[in-house]
Order: sequence, then structure tokens, then C-alpha cells
Amino acid sequence: MGSPAIFLDRDGTLIEDRGHLKDPSEVAFLPGVLSALRRLKDQFVLFLITNQNGVALGKIELEDAHRVNDHVARRLNEAGIPLRAIYCCPHQRSDGCLCIKPNPYFPRKAEKEHGVDLGRSFVVGDHPSDVELAANVGARGLYVLSGHGQKHRHELKVACQVVPGLAEAAEAILAARAAELLRAGKLVAFPTETVYGLGADAMNEDAVRRLFEVKGRPVGHPLIVHLAGAGAIGRWSDGRSELAGKLAERFWPGPLTLILRKSPAVSLRVTGGQDTVGLRVPAHPLALAMLGEFGGGVAAPSANRFGRVSPTTALHVRNDLGSDVDFVLDGGPCTVGVESTILDLSGNAPEILRPGGVTPEEIEAVIGRPVGRRGASAVRAPGQFESHYAPRARVIVVEPDDLAAQASEWRSKGAQVFVVERPEAQSLYAQLREADAAGAEVILVVAPSETGLGLAVADRLRKAAGPRPGREGPGRSAGSPGSGEGPKTLNDRENGGVA
Ligand code: TXA
Ligand code: MG
Repeated sequence: MGSPAIFLDRDGTLIEDRGHLKDPSEVAFLPGVLSALRRLKDQFVLFLITNQNGVALGKIELEDAHRVNDHVARRLNEAGIPLRAIYCCPHQRSDGCLCIKPNPYFPRKAEKEHGVDLGRSFVVGDHPSDVELAANVGARGLYVLSGHGQKHRHELKVACQVVPGLAEAAEAILAARAAELLRAGKLVAFPTETVYGLGADAMNEDAVRRLFEVKGRPVGHPLIVHLAGAGAIGRWSDGRSELAGKLAERFWPGPLTLILRKSPAVSLRVTGGQDTVGLRVPAHPLALAMLGEFGGGVAAPSANRFGRVSPTTALHVRNDLGSDVDFVLDGGPCTVGVESTILDLSGNAPEILRPGGVTPEEIEAVIGRPVGRRGASAVRAPGQFESHYAPRARVIVVEPDDLAAQASEWRSKGAQVFVVERPEAQSLYAQLREADAAGAEVILVVAPSETGLGLAVADRLRKAAGPRPGREGPGRSAGSPGSGEGPKTLNDRENGGVA
């Protein structure tokens, strides 16, 4: 199978269209172009295809066109973005040449000479001939409104996606790539508004099996199925919960997972052997784009090894999973920062199994009555440890008044102490990771008040402070320096986690 490629137009797409550019010093990259190409370069071979009819019109010399093209390529190269080849047509349309866009000449040349798989490739440009070229070679066209895009928009004759500029084109392309990899049974990490997920095609048994392996998760621990929209609820559940539709309408896309009776089509591998399924539509544009492209359900736990701190950036995911993940769709830092609220609608009355991004008060406002709240142990997940979401260091939740005394006592015993005070949901996990990275042995945390998102934050802190296999858990009250547990018990740090 050949490689997927992106054929990039030059003027109006990569650089400002100044009309028959002659002088390299006039090259000005459009805003966001370099960072967009950096995101694409590892997944795609990049080509430039440019029509320079100024040569045929006698406005510039062929040499001028080459000089400008070479300059663009050099600047990209310096930015770490290599172009595989530059294809330049110096003719005008009336010449009847083969190479002018939208003739398929150059992409076909790339196919032959560089092993490009046109069916998995893209053409991006600000002229209708760019997206017509895509149609002519069986690639996908993305029409950008930069350059002359706005002006020629009404001339579009072929179906294509229209985006403001290359930055948005890159996102659409990466989302499509992620969907393609999911279809191929690969594991794709993707951003959501809560935390990054590690996704697999929920209908592909092998992919889901590998997901459990990579995650290091017990097979009885169910996965949430991520969907592009509430329209799919009926396909994944028995479709009999009226509340589900109402809650979905209010909170999706958003940080709410609904536990419903599953439809027969849903694999028991995904649900951990249970007859219920967790469904959620995440509120992240890249996740939604990927899910929309994919069409089906994506089973995904948080993209960390089992029992460890959830990732809220793409870098966290790469640090945790390395080459075990086939592709990381980078959507920047997560905005909510703690996982979704899990609401069980499969029983007689709705019950919160895990506090998260949607507060109980918000749910109650929709259902019109108090919502039950079960502790984490009620989450039907056999083999689940109390300790979850745990950094390597020992987490001790302290009362605000005890903080100073505890910190100095642990320090006097030689422990590396890291203090986290009333963390915001959005930065909670990043701070726990920071503590680990700084070599902390003890993290002293003052929990936030348990209102709004603080409820979820306090819940995660309790779990992070909970007992772990092979280690006594200090919990909220035990484990102070005075209770006999000194830093000498910290030498189990390396295997202290659940993973
Ligand atoms: O925000 C989130 O929910 C993130 C993002 C990636 O969507 N996902 C996430 O997944 O936190 P995970 O696998 O780390 O946690 C899912 C929780 C588990 O505690 C699991 O037991 C529970 O959801 N769960 C899933 N399906 C369930 C079911 N059918 N019944 C009861 N609990 C279920
Ligand atoms: Mg152009």
C-alpha cells in the first residue's frame, strides 16, 4: 500500500497571493501555515503543486518561479517540514498542456515516482481547480477561503469540504486520518473536553482486545463508547430510556456518560460482560470530526495505563503509552480536565456512579428530582481498586490548617514534598504529573470545596490517596508523619501504582 500524501497549492494557501511572485523576499507565509504543516508531516508525504501562468503570460521568467518555489521549500525545510517534490506548471490554460490543474498529471507522477496512494490523499487549495484536481484523481479536496478562496467560492463545481484556512484543513485531514486508522483496527488517542481517550473501533473485537492489553486493564472493567451524536443512542442501547434522550439533548456534546441497557449488537468485550453500555458524545471539535468521519462507536478509556493519572495533553499520552498507541490526535490541552460524570439510567432511578464534568445540580435541573449518588465502589467494575487516578508519589489529603505542619514534618524526614492547594479541575492531573516529574515522594493536597466541579476534583483526590496494592494507603487521616509511616516506606514508589 502506498503512502497518503497532501498536495498543497502555493499562492493563497501556503503564502500570501501577491500575483506572479518573482522575488523570494516577497514570500510571506500565511498565519498558522507552519504549525499546520508540522502537524501533518509525520502522517503524510507533502507535495507542492502550483500553476504559474505568469511565465506563459510573460510577466515572470521560469527561473523566477523556480526561485520562489525553492525559497518556499527551503523555508519549510528549515521549519522541519520537508516537501517531497515541487510541481510547477508554467503554462496558461489556452496552451492546452497536460500539467495545469485540475489535470491529473502531477498527482499521477507522484503516484508513480513516490508510491503515493491517491485514494488516501488530499489536495488543499484556494481555487476551484484545486478541489477539481482532487476529484480527478480520487483524492479528497479541501477548499480554503484564504487567498482567492472567498472570491471564487461560488464557482465550486465539485463536492468538497470548505474551511477557513490551512490550520482548519489540517484538523479535518488529521480527523479523517484518525478515522481511517480506527477502521483499520488501530488504536488512536484523541482529545475530548475531559481527558484524552485511547480509542478503538467498538465493533472490532481484536482492536478492543488490544486496547485492554495496552491499557493494562482487567477485562471486566467496561469501556465508554463515544459517538458523534445522540442519533446513535438507539443503535447502541435498547432505546427505551426516555430520560436518556432528554439528558442527551441538554448535555451532549459534553462531559456526561449515560449507562443504558445495551443493544444486542454491542460486544460484551466492550461492556466488561455486563448488559449495560456507557455512551457519550464528547464536546471537542476534533473528537467530533473524527467520530463523524468514522461513523461508528469508538470504545475508549482514558489514554493512560490503568490506575495512573489521566492525560490532559497529547504529550501526556505519548509519555505514557509511547509506541503502543498507533496515532495521537493532538487537540491541545483538555478544557474540563476531569472525566465525565457517569449517570446510570439502567436501574429504577438515575444514579451518579462517578462525579465529573456535569454537576449533580445540573442533572437534577433536567430530571426534576434528586439524583442518587453512589460511591465509586458501586461502579460495576469488578476488580477495581480504590486507588485510581494515582500519581507515583504518595498523595495525602490534608486539612488547610494542617498543611504547614505536615509539610515541615515530612521534609524534616527527608521526603521530597510537593504541595497542591485547592486545584482547579482543569489543571489537577497536570499538577499531579508535575509532582511526579519533579521527583516528589509525597504530595500534600488541600482539597477544594465539594461544590460544582470541586466534587469531581475531591473524588479524584480521594481515589489518588486511596490504598494501592502493595502499599498501605494513608487516606485522609492516616499516614501523617506522626502515625508511624515515615518516608522510609516510600521505597515502593516504583511499583506503587495500580498499572
Ligand atoms: O471523560 C471520560 O469519561 C473519559 C473520556 C476519554 O471520555 N473516559 C473515561 O473512561 O474516563 P474510563 O474507561 O477511564 O472510565 C470509564 C468509567 C469506568 O469507571 C467504568 O467502570 C465506567 O465508566 N463504565 C463504563 N461502562 C459502564 C457500564 N456499562 N456500567 C457501569 N460503569 C461503566
Ligand atoms: Mg492558490
